[in-house]
Amino acid sequence: MEQIAVVGAGTMGNGIAHVLAQNGYKVNLVDLHAEQLQKGMQTIARNLERQVAKGSLTDEAKKSTLQNITALQDLNSGVKLADLVIEAATENVSVKLDIFRQLDEVTGPDAILATNTSSISITKIAAATKRPGAVIGMHFMNPVPVMKLVEIINGYGTLPETTNTIVELTKKLGKIPCIVNDYPGFIANRILMPMINEAIYSLYESVAGVEEIDTVMRLGMAHPMGPLQLADFIGLDVCLSILQVLHNGFGNPKYAPCPLLVNMVAAGKMGIKTGEGFYTYTPGSKELVVSEQFRK
Ligand code: CAA
Repeated sequence: MEQIAVVGAGTMGNGIAHVLAQNGYKVNLVDLHAEQLQKGMQTIARNLERQVAKGSLTDEAKKSTLQNITALQDLNSGVKLADLVIEAATENVSVKLDIFRQLDEVTGPDAILATNTSSISITKIAAATKRPGAVIGMHFMNPVPVMKLVEIINGYGTLPETTNTIVELTKKLGKIPCIVNDYPGFIANRILMPMINEAIYSLYESVAGVEEIDTVMRLGMAHPMGPLQLADFIGLDVCLSILQVLHNGFGNPKYAPCPLLVNMVAAGKMGIKTGEGFYTYTPGSKELVVSEQFRK
């Protein structure tokens, strides 16, 4: 695999480009929005610098990683020579279907088309192309440079050779592949989101406060972050949309999103990205401050 394109320069896209480039792959990072592209490149440079400061990366390796990435706004020129495209655009079905229709037209016939979707059906995305056998889920975890797992999702028609290529690539990136089948939420979010939803229900029903709920899960279950802090980190809008996929996909009321989550998203309190969720966030500060709303 020589040339890889990553579509979308947001949190996940820039993390994926970072890890690929650090492992020697030539990457085209494509985003239609100049500002997002610039922000993505700045984030990669900042995260590489953090690795240099910690001594886990040399300055030389940082430079060559950055040289391996070409930032592009034009989708066609960004993907046309790629052996693999990893789509990490907005988590929206119609956006993804549009992108895959275009990718199918523009890329070479042997290119593999992967999506980093956290919950949209791979089978549905594959059906927007004429190559369902070469469409696969490659679900990285946030923060991509740190988290070891890649959930690899086989759609209904994904061919074994496609899966094998993606498994081998995952290993070359120093990550651990887990192969799963295409059902709502796959494995990661089918298990994670009900836990987060239950934590929000516990707050909504006043079983305990934000800090107590997160402390129980951090200290009692050795989770690096409590579920409410993790929800803020993922984005409350993303959590809500994944829960809706689970709820609609299984038709089981156990996945119904907590009304408090629905209200917070409607109020624009989406976690770190908006500066407020269960906690409030001040740029440059690592201190966790419970949002006014939830203070006793
Ligand atoms: N890029 C590169 N390195 C990074 C980084 C980034 N974006 N973020 C953190 N790091 C590195 C740090 O440099 C540090 O490295 P060393 O171990 O070499 O010192 C290490 O990661 C730990 O970072 P910090 O000391 O700053 O902070 P921390 O110890 O609190 O860890 C964390 C931060 C890694 C995010 C940790 O809190 C954690 O693991 N949280 C849970 C993350 C999680 O569950 N992710 C999955 C979310 S779900 C998902 O992604 C899927 C979905 O579909 C919703």
